[in-house]
Amino acid sequence: MTMSDASECIVGIDLGTTNSEIAAFVGDRVRVLGPADRKILPSCVGLSPQGELLVGEPARHQMLVYPDRTVRSIKRKMGTDEKVALGDRTLSPQEVSSLILRELVEWARRQLQCPIQKAVITVPAYFSDAQRNATREAGVLAGLEVVRILNEPTAASLAYGTDHAGRQTVLVYDLGGGTFDVSIVTLEGDVTEVLASHGNNHLGGDDFDQLLMDRLLMQFKTTHGVDLREGHRVAYSRLWWAAEEAKRRLSSEQYVKVREESLVVVDGRPLHLDVEVARADYEEMIRPLVESTLDSVSRALADAGKRAEGSDAGSPRVKTCIRTCAWRWERGCSPPGSPGGRSSGCWWTCPPTRSGPRTWRRRTGSRIHTATIRSSGATRRSR
Ligand SMILES: Nc1ncnc2c1ncn2[C@@H]1O[C@H](COP(=O)(O)OP(=O)(O)OP(=O)(O)O)[C@@H](O)[C@H]1O
Ligand SMILES: [Mg+2]
Repeated sequence: MTMSDASECIVGIDLGTTNSEIAAFVGDRVRVLGPADRKILPSCVGLSPQGELLVGEPARHQMLVYPDRTVRSIKRKMGTDEKVALGDRTLSPQEVSSLILRELVEWARRQLQCPIQKAVITVPAYFSDAQRNATREAGVLAGLEVVRILNEPTAASLAYGTDHAGRQTVLVYDLGGGTFDVSIVTLEGDVTEVLASHGNNHLGGDDFDQLLMDRLLMQFKTTHGVDLREGHRVAYSRLWWAAEEAKRRLSSEQYVKVREESLVVVDGRPLHLDVEVARADYEEMIRPLVESTLDSVSRALADAGKRAEGSDAGSPRVKTCIRTCAWRWERGCSPPGSPGGRSSGCWWTCPPTRSGPRTWRRRTGSRIHTATIRSSGATRRSR
Protein backbone atom coordinates (compact mmCIF):
# COMPACT_ATOMS: atom_id res chain seq x y z
CA MET A 1 0.00 0.00 0.00
CA THR A 2 2.22 2.73 -1.18
CA MET A 3 2.42 5.61 -3.51
CA SER A 4 6.03 5.81 -4.60
CA ASP A 5 5.31 8.61 -7.03
CA ALA A 6 2.26 10.24 -8.51
CA SER A 7 2.28 7.95 -11.53
CA GLU A 8 2.25 4.67 -9.62
CA CYS A 9 -0.22 4.16 -6.84
CA ILE A 10 -0.53 0.77 -5.18
CA VAL A 11 -3.70 0.46 -3.20
CA GLY A 12 -4.71 -2.03 -0.54
CA ILE A 13 -8.24 -3.39 -0.82
CA ASP A 14 -10.31 -5.17 1.79
CA LEU A 15 -12.89 -6.94 -0.35
CA GLY A 16 -15.30 -7.93 2.40
CA THR A 17 -18.44 -10.02 2.44
CA THR A 18 -20.51 -7.12 3.75
CA ASN A 19 -18.27 -4.07 3.40
CA SER A 20 -15.25 -3.19 1.31
CA GLU A 21 -12.57 -0.55 1.70
CA ILE A 22 -9.62 0.84 -0.17
CA ALA A 23 -6.51 2.41 1.35
CA ALA A 24 -3.08 3.67 0.34
CA PHE A 25 0.06 5.00 1.90
CA VAL A 26 -0.15 8.74 1.49
CA GLY A 27 2.78 10.66 2.88
CA ASP A 28 3.87 8.55 5.82
CA ARG A 29 0.61 7.00 6.83
CA VAL A 30 -2.14 4.75 5.61
CA ARG A 31 -5.30 6.54 4.58
CA VAL A 32 -8.61 4.89 3.97
CA LEU A 33 -9.87 6.49 0.77
CA GLY A 34 -13.30 7.46 -0.42
CA PRO A 35 -15.79 10.27 -0.47
CA ALA A 36 -15.58 12.56 2.55
CA ASP A 37 -18.76 11.25 4.15
CA ARG A 38 -18.20 7.51 3.70
CA LYS A 39 -15.15 5.32 3.41
CA ILE A 40 -16.92 2.01 3.56
CA LEU A 41 -18.57 0.57 0.48
CA PRO A 42 -21.33 -1.97 1.12
CA SER A 43 -20.42 -5.04 -0.95
CA CYS A 44 -23.68 -4.93 -2.87
CA VAL A 45 -24.28 -4.74 -6.60
CA GLY A 46 -27.59 -4.13 -8.33
CA LEU A 47 -29.12 -3.44 -11.68
CA SER A 48 -31.92 -0.90 -11.55
CA PRO A 49 -35.11 -1.55 -13.54
CA GLN A 50 -33.83 1.17 -15.93
CA GLY A 51 -30.68 -0.89 -16.49
CA GLU A 52 -28.37 1.31 -14.43
CA LEU A 53 -25.61 -0.48 -12.58
CA LEU A 54 -25.62 0.26 -8.86
CA VAL A 55 -22.72 -0.46 -6.52
CA GLY A 56 -22.58 0.07 -2.75
CA GLU A 57 -25.19 2.01 -0.80
CA PRO A 58 -27.70 2.48 -3.69
CA ALA A 59 -27.58 -1.26 -4.39
CA ARG A 60 -28.02 -2.04 -0.70
CA HIS A 61 -31.13 0.12 -0.65
CA GLN A 62 -32.44 -1.32 -3.88
CA MET A 63 -32.26 -4.78 -2.32
CA LEU A 64 -35.36 -3.96 -0.29
CA VAL A 65 -37.53 -3.40 -3.34
CA TYR A 66 -35.79 -5.39 -6.06
CA PRO A 67 -34.08 -8.34 -4.37
CA ASP A 68 -33.99 -10.22 -7.68
CA ARG A 69 -31.97 -7.41 -9.24
CA THR A 70 -29.48 -7.12 -6.38
CA VAL A 71 -26.63 -9.21 -5.04
CA ARG A 72 -24.92 -9.13 -1.66
CA SER A 73 -22.36 -11.34 0.13
CA ILE A 74 -20.88 -12.42 -3.20
CA LYS A 75 -17.63 -13.26 -1.42
CA ARG A 76 -19.33 -16.39 -0.14
CA LYS A 77 -19.64 -17.63 -3.73
CA MET A 78 -16.10 -16.82 -4.80
CA GLY A 79 -14.30 -19.89 -6.10
CA THR A 80 -17.54 -21.60 -7.14
CA ASP A 81 -19.14 -21.87 -10.59
CA GLU A 82 -22.42 -20.53 -9.28
CA LYS A 83 -23.74 -17.63 -11.36
CA VAL A 84 -25.94 -14.91 -9.95
CA ALA A 85 -28.83 -13.21 -11.70
CA LEU A 86 -29.11 -9.44 -11.79
CA GLY A 87 -32.38 -8.84 -13.53
CA ASP A 88 -31.88 -10.26 -17.03
CA ARG A 89 -28.10 -10.42 -16.69
CA THR A 90 -26.17 -13.38 -15.34
CA LEU A 91 -22.79 -12.77 -13.74
CA SER A 92 -20.06 -14.88 -12.22
CA PRO A 93 -18.97 -14.12 -8.64
CA GLN A 94 -15.73 -12.73 -10.05
CA GLU A 95 -17.61 -10.35 -12.30
CA VAL A 96 -19.74 -9.09 -9.41
CA SER A 97 -16.65 -8.63 -7.23
CA SER A 98 -14.89 -6.81 -10.05
CA LEU A 99 -17.69 -4.23 -10.07
CA ILE A 100 -17.12 -3.60 -6.37
CA LEU A 101 -13.38 -3.31 -7.00
CA ARG A 102 -13.96 -0.86 -9.85
CA GLU A 103 -16.04 1.38 -7.64
CA LEU A 104 -13.36 1.35 -4.93
CA VAL A 105 -10.64 2.10 -7.44
CA GLU A 106 -12.67 5.00 -8.74
CA TRP A 107 -12.92 6.34 -5.18
CA ALA A 108 -9.15 6.12 -4.84
CA ARG A 109 -8.46 7.60 -8.27
CA ARG A 110 -10.60 10.61 -7.51
CA GLN A 111 -8.98 11.22 -4.16
CA LEU A 112 -5.37 10.54 -5.13
CA GLN A 113 -5.68 12.12 -8.56
CA CYS A 114 -3.56 9.41 -10.14
CA PRO A 115 -4.29 6.32 -12.21
CA ILE A 116 -4.60 3.15 -10.15
CA GLN A 117 -3.25 0.05 -11.78
CA LYS A 118 -1.85 -2.05 -8.97
CA ALA A 119 -3.48 -3.44 -5.89
CA VAL A 120 -2.96 -5.70 -2.90
CA ILE A 121 -6.23 -7.47 -2.09
CA THR A 122 -6.83 -9.15 1.23
CA VAL A 123 -8.55 -12.51 1.65
CA PRO A 124 -9.39 -14.65 4.68
CA ALA A 125 -6.47 -16.81 5.81
CA TYR A 126 -8.72 -19.81 5.20
CA PHE A 127 -9.56 -19.02 1.62
CA SER A 128 -8.87 -21.98 -0.66
CA ASP A 129 -6.72 -21.68 -3.76
CA ALA A 130 -9.89 -21.53 -5.89
CA GLN A 131 -11.19 -18.63 -3.80
CA ARG A 132 -7.85 -16.83 -3.98
CA ASN A 133 -7.68 -17.32 -7.74
CA ALA A 134 -11.21 -16.02 -8.13
CA THR A 135 -10.27 -12.92 -6.13
CA ARG A 136 -7.25 -12.37 -8.31
CA GLU A 137 -9.40 -12.80 -11.41
CA ALA A 138 -11.89 -10.22 -10.08
CA GLY A 139 -8.99 -7.80 -9.77
CA VAL A 140 -7.91 -8.45 -13.33
CA LEU A 141 -11.49 -7.98 -14.57
CA ALA A 142 -11.47 -4.64 -12.77
CA GLY A 143 -8.40 -3.69 -14.80
CA LEU A 144 -5.96 -4.16 -11.93
CA GLU A 145 -2.64 -5.86 -11.62
CA VAL A 146 -3.00 -7.77 -8.37
CA VAL A 147 0.51 -7.55 -6.97
CA ARG A 148 -0.32 -9.54 -3.87
CA ILE A 149 -3.11 -11.50 -2.24
CA LEU A 150 -2.60 -10.89 1.47
CA ASN A 151 -4.22 -12.72 4.37
CA GLU A 152 -6.66 -10.52 6.29
CA PRO A 153 -5.29 -11.29 9.78
CA THR A 154 -1.80 -10.48 8.51
CA ALA A 155 -3.06 -7.17 7.14
CA ALA A 156 -4.82 -6.44 10.45
CA SER A 157 -1.71 -7.15 12.49
CA LEU A 158 0.46 -5.08 10.15
CA ALA A 159 -1.94 -2.16 10.60
CA TYR A 160 -1.98 -2.69 14.37
CA GLY A 161 1.81 -2.97 14.44
CA THR A 162 2.36 0.38 12.79
CA ASP A 163 0.61 2.05 15.74
CA HIS A 164 2.21 0.03 18.53
CA ALA A 165 5.97 0.04 19.06
CA GLY A 166 8.01 -2.77 20.62
CA ARG A 167 7.68 -6.53 20.43
CA GLN A 168 4.33 -7.96 21.22
CA THR A 169 2.23 -11.00 20.57
CA VAL A 170 -1.39 -10.39 19.71
CA LEU A 171 -4.41 -12.48 18.92
CA VAL A 172 -6.39 -11.22 15.97
CA TYR A 173 -10.06 -12.26 16.14
CA ASP A 174 -11.90 -11.25 12.99
CA LEU A 175 -15.53 -12.23 12.77
CA GLY A 176 -16.69 -10.53 9.58
CA GLY A 177 -19.89 -10.72 7.59
CA GLY A 178 -19.06 -14.08 6.07
CA THR A 179 -15.77 -15.37 7.36
CA PHE A 180 -14.01 -15.96 10.64
CA ASP A 181 -10.29 -16.01 11.36
CA VAL A 182 -8.24 -16.10 14.51
CA SER A 183 -4.47 -15.73 14.37
CA ILE A 184 -1.73 -15.41 16.96
CA VAL A 185 0.85 -13.01 15.62
CA THR A 186 4.11 -11.64 16.95
CA LEU A 187 4.96 -8.13 15.84
CA GLU A 188 8.28 -6.41 16.11
CA GLY A 189 9.26 -3.56 13.84
CA ASP A 190 8.86 -4.74 10.28
CA VAL A 191 8.80 -8.39 11.22
CA THR A 192 5.46 -10.10 11.45
CA GLU A 193 5.36 -13.70 12.51
CA VAL A 194 2.16 -15.72 12.39
CA LEU A 195 2.47 -18.35 15.11
CA ALA A 196 -0.84 -20.09 14.54
CA SER A 197 -4.18 -19.53 12.94
CA HIS A 198 -7.60 -21.16 12.74
CA GLY A 199 -10.86 -20.19 11.15
CA ASN A 200 -13.88 -20.96 9.08
CA ASN A 201 -14.46 -19.22 5.80
CA HIS A 202 -18.18 -19.85 6.00
CA LEU A 203 -18.93 -18.35 9.38
CA GLY A 204 -19.85 -14.72 9.86
CA GLY A 205 -22.50 -12.13 10.61
CA ASP A 206 -24.68 -13.50 7.78
CA ASP A 207 -25.13 -16.69 9.81
CA PHE A 208 -26.13 -14.67 12.87
CA ASP A 209 -28.65 -12.78 10.71
CA GLN A 210 -30.00 -16.07 9.41
CA LEU A 211 -30.68 -17.37 12.93
CA LEU A 212 -32.58 -14.22 13.76
CA MET A 213 -34.38 -14.43 10.41
CA ASP A 214 -35.46 -18.00 11.15
CA ARG A 215 -36.94 -16.80 14.44
CA LEU A 216 -38.81 -13.96 12.73
CA LEU A 217 -40.04 -16.18 9.90
CA MET A 218 -41.32 -18.71 12.39
CA GLN A 219 -43.07 -16.01 14.37
CA PHE A 220 -44.72 -14.65 11.23
CA LYS A 221 -45.86 -18.10 10.18
CA THR A 222 -47.25 -18.85 13.61
CA THR A 223 -49.15 -15.56 13.70
CA HIS A 224 -50.41 -15.41 10.11
CA GLY A 225 -49.96 -18.90 8.68
CA VAL A 226 -47.81 -17.52 5.83
CA ASP A 227 -44.32 -18.81 5.05
CA LEU A 228 -42.37 -15.86 3.70
CA ARG A 229 -39.70 -18.19 2.28
CA GLU A 230 -42.08 -19.23 -0.46
CA GLY A 231 -42.73 -16.70 -3.20
CA HIS A 232 -42.37 -13.55 -1.13
CA ARG A 233 -38.95 -12.28 -2.15
CA VAL A 234 -39.53 -8.65 -1.30
CA ALA A 235 -40.96 -9.44 2.14
CA TYR A 236 -38.10 -11.85 2.76
CA SER A 237 -35.59 -9.20 1.81
CA ARG A 238 -37.25 -6.65 4.11
CA LEU A 239 -37.12 -9.18 6.90
CA TRP A 240 -33.42 -9.77 6.37
CA TRP A 241 -32.80 -6.03 6.56
CA ALA A 242 -34.85 -5.86 9.78
CA ALA A 243 -33.01 -8.87 11.25
CA GLU A 244 -29.60 -7.36 10.53
CA GLU A 245 -30.65 -4.08 12.07
CA ALA A 246 -32.04 -5.87 15.13
CA LYS A 247 -28.81 -7.82 15.50
CA ARG A 248 -26.77 -4.62 15.53
CA ARG A 249 -29.05 -3.01 18.08
CA LEU A 250 -28.92 -6.07 20.30
CA SER A 251 -25.22 -5.39 20.74
CA SER A 252 -26.12 -2.41 22.89
CA GLU A 253 -29.79 -2.85 23.84
CA GLN A 254 -31.43 -5.45 26.08
CA TYR A 255 -34.62 -5.66 24.02
CA VAL A 256 -35.31 -4.80 20.40
CA LYS A 257 -38.68 -4.44 18.74
CA VAL A 258 -38.91 -5.63 15.15
CA ARG A 259 -41.93 -4.06 13.57
CA GLU A 260 -42.56 -4.36 9.84
CA GLU A 261 -45.82 -2.95 8.58
CA SER A 262 -47.61 -4.68 5.76
CA LEU A 263 -44.97 -7.26 4.95
CA VAL A 264 -47.37 -9.02 2.63
CA VAL A 265 -50.95 -8.51 1.56
CA VAL A 266 -53.06 -11.67 1.60
CA ASP A 267 -56.67 -11.57 0.38
CA GLY A 268 -56.50 -7.78 0.47
CA ARG A 269 -55.40 -7.86 4.14
CA PRO A 270 -51.99 -6.37 5.03
CA LEU A 271 -50.06 -8.59 7.44
CA HIS A 272 -47.61 -7.05 9.90
CA LEU A 273 -44.75 -8.40 11.92
CA ASP A 274 -44.42 -7.16 15.46
CA VAL A 275 -41.93 -9.06 17.59
CA GLU A 276 -39.73 -8.22 20.52
CA VAL A 277 -36.39 -9.97 20.75
CA ALA A 278 -34.56 -10.12 24.07
CA ARG A 279 -30.80 -9.99 23.98
CA ALA A 280 -30.67 -13.00 26.32
CA ASP A 281 -32.67 -15.06 23.78
CA TYR A 282 -30.52 -13.86 20.92
CA GLU A 283 -27.33 -14.72 22.74
CA GLU A 284 -28.68 -18.18 23.47
CA MET A 285 -29.52 -18.53 19.77
CA ILE A 286 -26.03 -17.64 18.60
CA ARG A 287 -24.16 -19.45 21.37
CA PRO A 288 -23.14 -22.45 19.18
CA LEU A 289 -21.68 -20.09 16.57
CA VAL A 290 -19.82 -18.01 19.12
CA GLU A 291 -18.57 -21.13 20.86
CA SER A 292 -17.21 -22.48 17.61
CA THR A 293 -15.16 -19.29 17.26
CA LEU A 294 -13.89 -19.77 20.80
CA ASP A 295 -12.88 -23.33 20.02
CA SER A 296 -10.76 -21.89 17.22
CA VAL A 297 -9.30 -19.35 19.67
CA SER A 298 -8.36 -22.13 22.09
CA ARG A 299 -6.80 -24.19 19.34
CA ALA A 300 -4.83 -21.28 17.94
CA LEU A 301 -3.57 -20.39 21.42
CA ALA A 302 -2.61 -24.00 22.08
CA ASP A 303 -0.81 -24.27 18.73
CA ALA A 304 1.10 -21.09 19.50
CA GLY A 305 1.85 -22.17 23.08
CA LYS A 306 0.16 -19.04 24.44
CA ARG A 307 -2.68 -18.08 26.74
CA ALA A 308 -4.92 -15.01 26.48
CA GLU A 309 -4.24 -12.20 28.88
CA GLY A 310 -6.31 -9.14 28.02
CA SER A 311 -8.63 -7.94 25.35
CA ASP A 312 -8.86 -4.84 23.26
CA ALA A 313 -12.30 -5.24 21.81
CA GLY A 314 -13.62 -1.99 20.45
CA SER A 315 -16.51 -3.20 18.37
CA PRO A 316 -19.93 -3.84 19.92
CA ARG A 317 -20.38 -7.11 18.08
CA VAL A 318 -17.13 -8.50 19.45
CA LYS A 319 -18.20 -7.39 22.91
CA THR A 320 -21.35 -9.39 22.31
CA CYS A 321 -19.26 -12.45 21.55
CA ILE A 322 -17.17 -11.90 24.62
CA ARG A 323 -20.19 -11.37 26.81
CA THR A 324 -21.93 -14.42 25.40
CA CYS A 325 -19.14 -16.69 26.44
CA ALA A 326 -17.67 -14.69 29.27
CA TRP A 327 -16.82 -17.77 31.27
CA ARG A 328 -14.48 -18.91 28.57
CA TRP A 329 -11.97 -16.12 28.88
CA GLU A 330 -10.76 -13.37 31.10
CA ARG A 331 -11.62 -9.90 30.01
CA GLY A 332 -8.85 -7.36 29.89
CA CYS A 333 -8.55 -3.62 29.98
CA SER A 334 -6.43 -2.49 27.03
CA PRO A 335 -7.69 0.74 25.48
CA PRO A 336 -10.14 0.15 22.65
CA GLY A 337 -9.04 1.08 19.18
CA SER A 338 -9.21 0.21 15.57
CA PRO A 339 -6.18 -0.57 13.47
CA GLY A 340 -7.15 0.33 9.97
CA GLY A 341 -9.96 2.84 10.20
CA ARG A 342 -12.78 0.59 11.29
CA SER A 343 -12.75 -2.12 13.84
CA SER A 344 -13.45 -5.44 12.24
CA GLY A 345 -11.74 -7.61 14.77
CA CYS A 346 -10.15 -7.47 18.17
CA TRP A 347 -6.80 -8.19 19.68
CA TRP A 348 -5.68 -9.99 22.76
CA THR A 349 -2.17 -9.64 24.00
CA CYS A 350 -0.51 -12.92 24.85
CA PRO A 351 2.17 -13.28 27.51
CA PRO A 352 5.49 -14.49 26.13
CA THR A 353 6.27 -18.18 26.47
CA ARG A 354 9.49 -19.91 25.62
CA SER A 355 7.97 -22.79 23.74
CA GLY A 356 5.88 -22.63 20.63
CA PRO A 357 5.51 -24.31 17.30
CA ARG A 358 8.24 -23.98 14.72
CA THR A 359 7.46 -20.96 12.63
CA TRP A 360 9.16 -19.09 9.89
CA ARG A 361 9.34 -15.42 9.43
CA ARG A 362 9.81 -13.00 6.64
CA ARG A 363 11.01 -9.48 6.90
CA THR A 364 8.47 -7.22 5.32
CA GLY A 365 9.43 -4.33 3.13
CA SER A 366 9.68 -0.93 4.68
CA ARG A 367 6.68 0.42 2.88
CA ILE A 368 4.83 -2.35 1.12
CA HIS A 369 4.17 -4.94 3.76
CA THR A 370 4.13 -7.91 1.48
CA ALA A 371 4.03 -10.52 4.18
CA THR A 372 3.02 -13.81 2.66
CA ILE A 373 3.28 -15.32 6.06
CA ARG A 374 1.47 -18.55 6.77
CA SER A 375 1.23 -20.28 10.07
CA SER A 376 3.13 -23.54 10.37
CA GLY A 377 0.90 -24.73 13.21
CA ALA A 378 -2.37 -24.03 11.49
CA THR A 379 -4.88 -26.62 10.49
CA ARG A 380 -7.28 -25.71 7.75
CA ARG A 381 -10.92 -25.92 8.54
CA SER A 382 -13.60 -24.84 6.16
CA ARG A 383 -16.86 -26.08 4.89
N1 LIG B 1 -22.88 -3.37 16.15
C1 LIG B 1 -22.90 -4.56 15.58
N2 LIG B 1 -23.34 -5.63 16.24
C2 LIG B 1 -23.40 -6.84 15.66
N3 LIG B 1 -23.00 -7.07 14.39
C3 LIG B 1 -22.55 -6.02 13.68
C4 LIG B 1 -22.46 -4.72 14.23
N4 LIG B 1 -21.94 -3.89 13.27
C5 LIG B 1 -21.73 -4.66 12.19
N5 LIG B 1 -22.10 -5.93 12.42
C6 LIG B 1 -22.04 -7.06 11.49
O1 LIG B 1 -20.70 -7.23 11.08
C7 LIG B 1 -20.68 -7.82 9.79
C8 LIG B 1 -19.79 -6.99 8.87
O2 LIG B 1 -18.52 -6.94 9.41
P1 LIG B 1 -17.26 -6.58 8.51
O3 LIG B 1 -17.51 -5.31 7.81
O4 LIG B 1 -16.06 -6.72 9.38
O5 LIG B 1 -17.34 -7.81 7.51
P2 LIG B 1 -16.60 -7.99 6.14
O6 LIG B 1 -15.20 -7.53 6.26
O7 LIG B 1 -17.43 -7.39 5.07
O8 LIG B 1 -16.70 -9.56 6.00
P3 LIG B 1 -15.54 -10.69 5.84
O9 LIG B 1 -14.34 -10.19 6.53
O10 LIG B 1 -16.15 -11.89 6.50
O11 LIG B 1 -15.39 -10.87 4.39
C9 LIG B 1 -22.11 -7.83 9.29
O12 LIG B 1 -22.66 -9.13 9.45
C10 LIG B 1 -22.80 -6.83 10.20
O13 LIG B 1 -24.18 -7.10 10.35
MG1 LIG C 1 -13.46 -8.45 6.84
